[in-house]
Amino acid sequence: MPNHSEIKNLLENREIGKKIVVCGWVKTFRSNRFININDGSCIDDIQCVIDLDSFNKETLSKITTGSSIRVKGQIVESQGRGQNIEIHVDNLEILGLSHPDNYPIQPKKHSFEFLRENAHLRARTKTISSVLRIRSKISYAIHKFFNDNNFYYIHTPIVTVSDAEGAGEMFKVTTLDLKKIPQTENNDIDFSKDFFGKETNLTVSGQLEAEAMALGMGKVYTFGPTFRAENSNTSRHLAEFWMIEPEMAFYELTDNIDLAESFIKYVIEYVKIECENEINFLSERLTKEEQSMPQNQRSELSLKERINFVIKNDFVRINYTDAFNILKNCKPNKKGKFKFPVKEWGIDFQSEHERFLVEKHFKSPVVVFDYPAKIKAFYMRLNEDKKTVRAMDILFPGIGEIVGGSQREERLDILENRIKSMGIDKKELWWYLDLRKFGSVKHSGFGLGLERLILFITGMGNIRDVIPFPRTPKNADF
Ligand code: 4AD
Ligand code: MG
Repeated sequence: MPNHSEIKNLLENREIGKKIVVCGWVKTFRSNRFININDGSCIDDIQCVIDLDSFNKETLSKITTGSSIRVKGQIVESQGRGQNIEIHVDNLEILGLSHPDNYPIQPKKHSFEFLRENAHLRARTKTISSVLRIRSKISYAIHKFFNDNNFYYIHTPIVTVSDAEGAGEMFKVTTLDLKKIPQTENNDIDFSKDFFGKETNLTVSGQLEAEAMALGMGKVYTFGPTFRAENSNTSRHLAEFWMIEPEMAFYELTDNIDLAESFIKYVIEYVKIECENEINFLSERLTKEEQSMPQNQRSELSLKERINFVIKNDFVRINYTDAFNILKNCKPNKKGKFKFPVKEWGIDFQSEHERFLVEKHFKSPVVVFDYPAKIKAFYMRLNEDKKTVRAMDILFPGIGEIVGGSQREERLDILENRIKSMGIDKKELWWYLDLRKFGSVKHSGFGLGLERLILFITGMGNIRDVIPFPRTPKNADF
């Protein structure tokens, strides 16, 4: 172990008088005496105070924002306001100088667009490092929740043959020479010559494999990268995102919704406590940002109030048909304010509809269930009415859909009919159908988009700012 202390521990332990070593990157250097450094361990910097006479002025003058240093010194009570301790420096070592003119992360406000172009350095900012610390704690809380509730963490494959969601928005995986693609007699691509001997792609969901594991291990979850090649340039879509997918044997849809609700609340509450400083900072940031926006675009609640609201209140649960009727009869629809008018039962809700339900009508997270079969994936359990399926989406304020899930069709004949009527090739799904032949049971699960949950907890506006290196159409730098 290295012999230096982390700023997080120093600030927590406040061991006045203790001699310590601390390392970090220079945030500011004021009056040739006060160097604020941060080492990433927490949101706060620590101030290092230099006794001018003891140091070489020329050396000191080389230290600028972004330089890395190691100091030895003594912890003293802080003189300045708002700081509880500082370091009285005995010895200072420059680890790496920073070019004063070219260092992009100067101590001033940067736009998020600018920081995205400098994604390799943006973890040096308070906002992005706070978001990423929260991201780390959320991930831990997710594992803790499932582990404490007797779930097993399983790893589903990244390279797959099946298109679980039936949306066809997949990245191909191949080692074929793209300049000399082998062809079959019918002029199709000859995938038998490819690495896996068949057409493969990056997974759009680990669900189908998770189902197989649940039907032997009871309660499982998968948590990993997920890929969608949809050309969506929105602030809510990534081409590579992380999804948490629990799958539970013997669970019906209501059990599934109950689990999803308590899971989300647990994670948010955990992070609220563990990342209090980060959330306070991000909440103030958002309030300031919104002050420069027109009144009608500002949120009624601050970030902290929104977080508390979600933890304390039951999510509204409503079936698709009731939600449809609310939307059909609501003012914005009647006045033609929706870009997609709500007319016919069976439409897929657009984000403007979801946001109306959540932000204007209910002012609460909303679970919509029993969607029309036509707009949902093949694996969802058909209801008695033969028109709807046991699907559920959880919609969040400011985000829209955060969870998509369902009770799965466990009846072989009905599943086979569904696959056939949707024109899906049954061949690749032989093993999935097998699960319905050997001790089939009711089971359910859902998928939560990690980045969308982080958006909610941090109040960030763009999904590209809650993952270290975002992948979106035409963007795979770094
Ligand atoms: O609703 P989706 O497509 O559901 C599934 O993939 C199911 N197989 C899950 C399951 O039942 N096991 O995706 C689930 C969630 C969405 O609600 C959203 O939060 C997130 O994944 N998501 C995305 N997040 C970021 N960028 C994208 N392109 C996303 N697509 C889905
Ligand atoms: Mg969905």
